[in-house]
Amino acid sequence: MKPILLSGVKPTARVHIGNYFGAMKQFVDLQDKYSNFNFIADYHALNQMMDKPQDIKRLTLELTAAYLAIGLDPKKTVLFRQSDVPQVTELNWIFNSLVTPSYLQSAHAYKDAVAKKKTVNMGLFCYPVLMAADILIYGSDIVPVGKDQEQHLEIAIDLAKKFNHAYGAEVFKMPKGMIWEGQSVKGIDGEKMSKSKGNVIELFEPEESIRKKVMSIKTDSAGVDDKKDPEADNVFAYHKLFSVKMLDELRGRYEKGGIGYKESKEILFANMMAYLKPMRKEYEKLIKNEKYLNKVLSAGAKKAREVAEEKMVKVRKAIGVR
Ligand code: TYM
Repeated sequence: MKPILLSGVKPTARVHIGNYFGAMKQFVDLQDKYSNFNFIADYHALNQMMDKPQDIKRLTLELTAAYLAIGLDPKKTVLFRQSDVPQVTELNWIFNSLVTPSYLQSAHAYKDAVAKKKTVNMGLFCYPVLMAADILIYGSDIVPVGKDQEQHLEIAIDLAKKFNHAYGAEVFKMPKGMIWEGQSVKGIDGEKMSKSKGNVIELFEPEESIRKKVMSIKTDSAGVDDKKDPEADNVFAYHKLFSVKMLDELRGRYEKGGIGYKESKEILFANMMAYLKPMRKEYEKLIKNEKYLNKVLSAGAKKAREVAEEKMVKVRKAIGVR
């Protein structure tokens, strides 16, 4: 039996290169070594998308096509919608009884929303509990995510310990977080790339739109001949992802002077499009085949429910409702 890899992405916007390098690429790279469970976190999206049912539907299909286009193989990976596994929301309810409001008040997403004076619904407040249910119900060994999810992983481990301790049973295995080595991909403004900040480059957006975004990446005002610190430049941060083969050459040109940001961006755009081309081609085909995408999701849902139900039999017994 292979160890289990689990991770999800919310269908709140189209996938961007932060999602890809921070998390999704790992799912593909590791699908031979692990038994993969990858899902569309549609119930997690709900607290932002309550009034947008058509968007959730569309973005779910797009995310399914994206998962497949980047190389996930449905024969190796169980690909499913979170909402297709009601056992997860059942476990969420049980976990709710193990945490206090003051415990959840220390969660980043909640504190952030309060700091920005946003209205906080219970979906946002209890977000880490649902995420713990996602992670623990499938007996996950590793959870590859970007740095921003680190605290959620700690909460999941904490809940596994709390449950096992409360019921004197080893029902839940401790998962391990696998935080992407690059931590976070920056957006075109130099801040963390984020769906909510409008600074993203999507994997599948039109080529012309990607070009415009690349050409508008924020830089300092150094001239062509000035020496530049590659580690301080936002364009170079993208070269580390897309221009791996010519990285040393580019680093040398930055340090000596003789490359302007315009040229650096043009090289980046060409390398980015070459890197993304095969998956973009695949995506174009997949997105037109809604029937196939739904078929993949139903097969994944069936398998995910089986695994989740097996765990819930133990949970229900442990807590005394069976
Ligand atoms: P979401 O949809 O916000 O992001 C999906 C994944 O992309 C990573 N990510 C980034 N990585 C590097 N740089 C960035 N700029 C960047 N932006 C996003 C995120 O860290 C994440 O790994 N709560 C999760 C979804 C979820 C989940 C789970 C994940 C629900 N249940 C269980 C793992 C396990 C989320 O909002 O991801």
